Amino acid sequence: MKISNRLKLIASFVDDNSYVIDVGCDHALLDIFLVNNKKNIKTIASDVNKGPLESAKKNIQDYNLESKIEIKLGDGISTINDKVDTIVISGLGGETIIEILKEDQSLLKNVKTIILSPHSDIYQVRKEVVNLGFKIIDEIFTYDQNKPYVVIKFSKGQANYTDDELYFGPIILKNKNEYFYKYYKELINKNKEVLKKVPNQNINLKNKIEKEIERLDKIINA
Ligand SMILES: C[S@@+](CC[C@H](N)C(=O)[O-])C[C@H]1O[C@@H](n2cnc3c(N)ncnc32)[C@H](O)[C@@H]1O
Repeated sequence: MKISNRLKLIASFVDDNSYVIDVGCDHALLDIFLVNNKKNIKTIASDVNKGPLESAKKNIQDYNLESKIEIKLGDGISTINDKVDTIVISGLGGETIIEILKEDQSLLKNVKTIILSPHSDIYQVRKEVVNLGFKIIDEIFTYDQNKPYVVIKFSKGQANYTDDELYFGPIILKNKNEYFYKYYKELINKNKEVLKKVPNQNINLKNKIEKEIERLDKIINA
């Protein structure tokens, strides 16, 4: 089965012996990879749309994995059961992920681990999931096919983070890698280009962009 490096990396964040719900499973490629490559994994491959679940069903049958992967149609984590200890949500926008996790918090009672790879609003995602009673235990910032993305692993527990840690990631900040420098240096340059085009009388916008550049510069050089 062909699976992207991005999904393989997300799979590497899942512990052996986990009962996973993969929300927005699409073709269930992550689920199939997990049960084939990790020890003692069960998953619920869940999606809100019938189309993706049809191809998920076919893929799961092709690999004879019906006893290890259950397919469920439904919104967010409405399809969870009491045995699930790990939620994975990847490839969705941050706002949708937050809505999914906050919709009915009683559904999180047996969940020990949440693994997220949002494609937007990452600051807000960290903040809201921490407010739900989870702390960040692992994360990575990387690129796949020229697109930046993060994977964040939360575990039940309390922790306090600074604004910079919520924005950049507490662990990502401790282990800044080449992708981190590439992305934020490019962002600084983009901001500098935008700044050149802002009319002088637009002082508020100029100040905002200058502050952002200063913040990014400080982080890159820390
Ligand atoms: C871009 S795909 C991501 C697939 C896969 N998780 C990945 O990372 O490659 C998004 C999938 O999420 C599903 N989806 C979107 N909103 C959802 C929701 N609220 N609950 C469950 N699934 C949802 C879509 O139907 C689609 O199959």
